[in-house]
Amino acid sequence: MTGDVEEHAARFDEKAAEYDDGDHSPEYRDCRDLVIEHAAVDGDIVLDLGAGTGAISLALAPAADRVIGRDVSEGMLEQARKKASDAGIENVEFGRGRFREPDVPGDAAVDVVVSNFAMHHLSDGEKRDAIDVIAGLEPDRFVLGDVMLFGEADPEEPFYSPEVDDPATVGVLADALTDAGFALTAVEAVHEQVGVLVAERGDDRT
Ligand SMILES: C[S@@+](CC[C@H](N)C(=O)[O-])C[C@H]1O[C@@H](n2cnc3c(N)ncnc32)[C@H](O)[C@@H]1O
Repeated sequence: MTGDVEEHAARFDEKAAEYDDGDHSPEYRDCRDLVIEHAAVDGDIVLDLGAGTGAISLALAPAADRVIGRDVSEGMLEQARKKASDAGIENVEFGRGRFREPDVPGDAAVDVVVSNFAMHHLSDGEKRDAIDVIAGLEPDRFVLGDVMLFGEADPEEPFYSPEVDDPATVGVLADALTDAGFALTAVEAVHEQVGVLVAERGDDRT
């Protein structure tokens, strides 16, 4: 564990106003762009977990039927709502929810789940629980962009702050996804500690 949900929420509340002004790394930007591309949204209902200030939600909204953004930080959500309003985007709803309790509205049958640079705040056990919750929503596709370890963990690398980050190995994530009933259909290595996994539900679903 690297802090509980409320600690992460408080930390991001403090950063929220400046989050979009910060210099995001090229790897973050590549990861974000790959998540948007692999989401391949076309009239879908999308759930964005750890939505933050809406980078993914707002990019997907024009091609989506509806986007549901969930985050634990009210400060980040406020920024996301303001950006949606400023851009005149009306099919996005930002509200509080966490990976393991995303609080999806009862009338929303989620087609695509996305998450960018957020799941690494969970422990490996919590990630597995979250992936089970996501699978339970029965989306066609789950696109996960995040800090993840393709090789040995290197605490000297900029993507990994052991006090607040707890990235999983790609193997741990792949096992959790396949155990939850997904097939891994793409693995994009952006950096040895940043990647995008595309998981799709098999044809045998009922
Ligand atoms: C680095 S930001 C990424 C935000 C956005 N996805 C992006 O690509 O810019 C990580 C976000 O994850 C959120 N977060 C951390 N733990 C969470 C949890 N258990 N459930 C949902 N969101 C969480 C934080 O509040 C923060 O907004």
